[in-house]
Amino acid sequence: MTAAAQPCRAADSVLAMSFEIRTLLREQIPACRQALAAGFGYDSDPDDEAATERFDAIFGTERAFPAFDGNEIVGTGSDLELNLTVPGGAQVPMSGLTIITVRPTHTRQGVLTAMMREHVDRARKRGEPLGGLWASEVPIYGRFGYGPATLMHGIKFDARLAGRGGSEPGVTVRLAGGDEAETVLPQLYNRAMKTRPGMYKRSEDWWKYRLFHDPEKHRDGASALRHAVAERNGEPIGYVTYRQKASWDLLSEGELRIRELIPVDDAAYRALWHYAANIDLFPIVKYWSNPVDDPLPLIMRDGRTVVTTDYSDGLWVRLIDVADALVKRSYSGTGSVVISIADQFCPWNEGTYRLVIDDGTAACEKVAAEPDVAMDVNTLGAMYLGGRDAVSFARAGRIEGDAAAVARFGTLFRSSPAPWCPEIF
Ligand SMILES: CC(C)(COP(=O)(O)OP(=O)(O)OC[C@H]1O[C@@H](n2cnc3c(N)ncnc32)[C@H](O)[C@@H]1OP(=O)(O)O)[C@@H](O)C(=O)NCCC(=O)NCCS
Repeated sequence: MTAAAQPCRAADSVLAMSFEIRTLLREQIPACRQALAAGFGYDSDPDDEAATERFDAIFGTERAFPAFDGNEIVGTGSDLELNLTVPGGAQVPMSGLTIITVRPTHTRQGVLTAMMREHVDRARKRGEPLGGLWASEVPIYGRFGYGPATLMHGIKFDARLAGRGGSEPGVTVRLAGGDEAETVLPQLYNRAMKTRPGMYKRSEDWWKYRLFHDPEKHRDGASALRHAVAERNGEPIGYVTYRQKASWDLLSEGELRIRELIPVDDAAYRALWHYAANIDLFPIVKYWSNPVDDPLPLIMRDGRTVVTTDYSDGLWVRLIDVADALVKRSYSGTGSVVISIADQFCPWNEGTYRLVIDDGTAACEKVAAEPDVAMDVNTLGAMYLGGRDAVSFARAGRIEGDAAAVARFGTLFRSSPAPWCPEIF
């Protein structure tokens, strides 16, 4: 990789500083880790070789695009080589934007904008039609063509009220130790991943250094991670990974904090939730990211007590190559729609596309025709995985078109199950 950008300078600010996007060298990783920590407000020890190794294994240097002011790293950014499951089950190359920070001394001078330019231009050259990210704050990424494509619920329930004691015929659940979990969990995840738009395959290093790396400082006073595996006839069919946080008052009010619950079928799903609701001394069950179409209240005795504690966006998607991305997913039914796309940041996408769908499979071409619906590319990104409601976007003024055309567009794009991304990257 070569140094990629022209030196940039914010023109109209007394605080203006120069910066340029450069290659990240292996020996600069400690400084990059320091800059990242400064951006997200935690402490990092530059001499921690193990942390440098983990960073190198997870993010590497090849795809990084840090911003330098002289010899100082003032912006951190990279993207991960991911393959996103889209409606229909195809895995589509996605450039997963990550570790984005700008030093407080250099914000609002275009550093992020320059890094975003690198991100989309490089992804386009590599032939990755999608970009993906998790946003720390909503207002940051819409201007760069990203829209929130998966949603999630934070949930909480008291199993003493919601219902303890359920079980799933034919399915048993048992605890798996570290070594076994390291083999079985990735296999189960890879099976589940193919059935849920919004999930993507994790690399071996990701499993090792992100999922199974479990230092005390990540536990927030709770236990180490536990892994419980559901089985049918001795065959693993799902898992739940969680921590326990004991709490003693008049009664035991311990918390079970679920990190991820990944079933490969519905029986495994029910068995894992029954297991989670049945752990003595830990009746308060919390899950930070439950799919929005999750039927949990329906399997508990008192579903009303399963409380949604927050409702949030998850994975944001950007179509870096609109036509290529559109033909890679499948659709609901048969029909056609002509879509006008505005895309200031990636002008090669601007134009009008005719999408012709035959029994779920799409053909797409740029046309000089009157559009049925018109939108910014960030709205198309939000709609892409099939989990958002076109009529709501139209009511919000973000999709133009008559009501029938908006409804047709929305019906074709709708997908089930709801897209869901279980992991922040
Ligand atoms: C978010 C962050 C990376 C922005 O970097 P930056 O270099 O200041 O961004 P830019 O100067 O390129 O800003 C581009 C535009 O986005 C706007 N913008 C940037 N960050 C914004 C924010 N947090 N909220 C609202 N608008 C923001 C700018 O005002 C600017 O708008 P304009 O073009 O209309 O003037 C930086 O504030 C940061 O490091 N924040 C803390 C870490 C973080 O949240 N990282 C993101 C992880 S997903």
